[in-house]
Amino acid sequence: MAFEFDRRHFLRVSAAGAAGLAIGRTVRAKDANGKLRLAAIGTGGKGQDDLQNISSSPRVEVVALCNIDDTKPHLGWAAEAFPKAERFSDYRKLLDKANAFDAVSVSTPDHMHAPIALAAMSLGKHVFCQKPLTHTVHEARLMRETAKKHNLVTQMGNQIQSHHAYRTAVKLVHDGAIGKVREVRSWQAGNMRWMLAATRPPGSDPVPPSLKWDLWLGAAPERPYKNERYHPFNWRAWQDFSTGQLGDFGCHILDPVFMALELTAPTSIEADAPPLNNDTWALHSKVEYQFPGTKRTAGETIMVTWYDGEGHMPDRDGLGLPDSYELPQSGSALVGEKGTLVVPHVAEPQLFPEEKFKDYKVPIVEEINHYTSWAHACLGDGTTHSNFGYAGPLTEAVILGAIAIRFPKEQLLWDAEACQFTHHADANAHVTKEYRQGWELPTV
Ligand SMILES: NC(=O)c1ccc[n+]([C@@H]2O[C@H](COP(=O)([O-])OP(=O)(O)OC[C@H]3O[C@@H](n4cnc5c(N)ncnc54)[C@H](O)[C@@H]3O)[C@@H](O)[C@H]2O)c1
Repeated sequence: MAFEFDRRHFLRVSAAGAAGLAIGRTVRAKDANGKLRLAAIGTGGKGQDDLQNISSSPRVEVVALCNIDDTKPHLGWAAEAFPKAERFSDYRKLLDKANAFDAVSVSTPDHMHAPIALAAMSLGKHVFCQKPLTHTVHEARLMRETAKKHNLVTQMGNQIQSHHAYRTAVKLVHDGAIGKVREVRSWQAGNMRWMLAATRPPGSDPVPPSLKWDLWLGAAPERPYKNERYHPFNWRAWQDFSTGQLGDFGCHILDPVFMALELTAPTSIEADAPPLNNDTWALHSKVEYQFPGTKRTAGETIMVTWYDGEGHMPDRDGLGLPDSYELPQSGSALVGEKGTLVVPHVAEPQLFPEEKFKDYKVPIVEEINHYTSWAHACLGDGTTHSNFGYAGPLTEAVILGAIAIRFPKEQLLWDAEACQFTHHADANAHVTKEYRQGWELPTV
């Protein structure tokens, strides 16, 4: 379906403009049938799941699809499922037809989240964007500020937040089940199956005709195409496109910790990890974050320690767990004044000591549909919980840990308001990054 000139949208935008309002500030999206017109960018991998979930609402109409790869697992399946949607390989061409859609989903590799989402938000479009929200701390800050400035409905794709298990864990802490929290340990001890080699493979492979490699690279520095090394999925290994295992899982696993404790920004971050090369991320790391205390914490500060790497489990000392209890492969343990809450990723939370909590009535917390709740909020119905006002600071904290991994055993002091490290020019250089010429971030 070719985009048609949308007079209703034009009038809405003109009226907003005439009133001196930013586009999208006061109006909620809707087409003539009251549906949200969605443009989906990055439709393979997790993008397939995102698109299927968002479009499961009868109130959503998929009007545009964008992918740099035409093959069946990427654009192909979506083109078959939504034959009326116009197809693009370059998101900039899609955004040129801004009057034809109300909202975008961004499910590309991480290095392109901010360039795409910021450009869409500057046009007044509501955004669903995968986790981690961005590739740099600076981008996360801009995403939060831009969503607020244009009053847009946003949601990061950390869908486990809406799962009843994570929601129950947050409620248990808010109900005071374990009292005020003294310390948190979070971990992801699974493998990194995307880490195929430590350094760049030599040479290049022919780019398949179905793939637009230059568009895949986007804002990242140029490098030759190699089969399977980057696209799809294995881009996670590389510093140019991802923030490593912490970036991949931190916005999931640290999410219930952030929500339960109402954390803000860390004041200091210190990592222990093997030295990084110029290309790939570390195979394991430990990152100690100190956050200001909140009404949910026992002290004036609280330590949250992250562990990742295959088989890299947290220290059990002080967790108050029975020897017979095997920790899940990934999750968090919150040590409170009255007990410990283990929050597996993703399963029912567990309270310890078991004897003490055997009669505790665990609240029943309903699941939320993370995807359609965003779509419906764009239509003015309800709200989102992982909006960029929340997901921005969470992502900042996660990426600050990835920066600390670059400076093992150095305590980095973070000034959140200034969005910079105190007295550490080398670390500050990683708060943002260089963009490939012609791919600089849009003005928002
Ligand atoms: N929430 C979750 O549980 C979860 C799970 C997996 C991945 N993710 C996130 O989803 C995103 C995608 O991860 P993935 O594993 O699916 O990666 P992937 O490489 O398997 O898939 C990315 C898709 O985007 C397309 N694409 C790449 N660059 C594009 C561009 N510039 N424009 C349009 N399309 C483009 C690719 O062709 C592919 O179809 C990442 O941000 C990742 O962190 C989230």
